[in-house]
Amino acid sequence: MLNQPTLVDQFGRTVDYIRLSITDRCDFRCVYCMSEDMAFLQREEVLSLEECSRLVRVFVSLGVSKVRITGGEPLVRKNALWLFEELGKLDGLKELVLTTNGSQLEKKATALKKAGVKRINISIDSLNAERFKKITRTGDLNKVLTGLQASIDEGFEAIKINTVLMRGSNDDEAADLVQFAIDQKIDISFIEEMPLGEVDHTRESSFVSNADTLKLLQDKYSLLPSTESTGGPARYWRVANSHTKIGFISPHSHNFCESCNRVRITCKGELYLCLGQEDRIDLMPLLRDNPDDDAPLIAAILDSMRIKPKGHDFDLRRAEPAVIRFMSYTGG
Ligand code: 5AD
Ligand code: SF4
Repeated sequence: MLNQPTLVDQFGRTVDYIRLSITDRCDFRCVYCMSEDMAFLQREEVLSLEECSRLVRVFVSLGVSKVRITGGEPLVRKNALWLFEELGKLDGLKELVLTTNGSQLEKKATALKKAGVKRINISIDSLNAERFKKITRTGDLNKVLTGLQASIDEGFEAIKINTVLMRGSNDDEAADLVQFAIDQKIDISFIEEMPLGEVDHTRESSFVSNADTLKLLQDKYSLLPSTESTGGPARYWRVANSHTKIGFISPHSHNFCESCNRVRITCKGELYLCLGQEDRIDLMPLLRDNPDDDAPLIAAILDSMRIKPKGHDFDLRRAEPAVIRFMSYTGG
């Protein structure tokens, strides 16, 4: 397409990356992500896979070149593979990537690779099966590790472990997880716990800062700072003499907001302009009221760039969560 319009906000940031949550459901109940008795959305409240596909197509026509499919757990959604296959056919889409808990990868890695998925992030918070069960409440570490192996065998461009460390729970495993990543020749990122939704512990009590984790790892490994940036809140280090990169995702530091290149779409079709703020527009009515006309949708998306906030506002000490919605709903 000639003269492709791009999404540029009022601070001059270009949005070329969307994260789309295709379900709020998950087969795990990680303690930092969900409460024990989560209520999930009804089917009609959630975008259909056709609507997801249409939305991504429209964003790609507006210059978006990278899409991350998230959840909840995206692979528990029925027919999720159909969506990956559709998105894999989009011409302007350079990077189709996935965040998953890995529980379904043993069965689905081959089909995902074939559909055009380039990279996969898999959440693993512990290498100890008992502990893994405690953190995820329902997860089976062995199944996830088998899924990880299946993905490695498929030869994705990159595979990354995502780890949330929590004080007194798994904060003694940082080095073991890094060693595991080195042995598997994959990457790993440490994500600081974010106050998204109300869970069964206070966020401050479990918080582990990435600065401390970095210090601990530097004692053990030779880490070379990497200039690589994804436009997100991650800083990367290379482990010398390895294939492994370590990322530190520190949402509590503000310095990344100025290079933010992303927006999020919830499984209900709400376009959130910032993970840590409430600014959003509702895309579902635009999709459903105009089944054959993308113009109103396009106009609303272009217009939303005016309300993308300058940055977020997380504060761990606040009694109530900074944002009421759970990560499983907005998408990680
Ligand atoms: N804070 C930090 N990370 C979270 N995740 C889910 N909820 C939270 C939270 N409140 C993580 C998951 C997954 C990634 C996408 O986000 O563990 O790895
Ligand atoms: Fe599921 Fe991921 Fe939330 Fe864990 S963090 S409950 S795997 S959506």
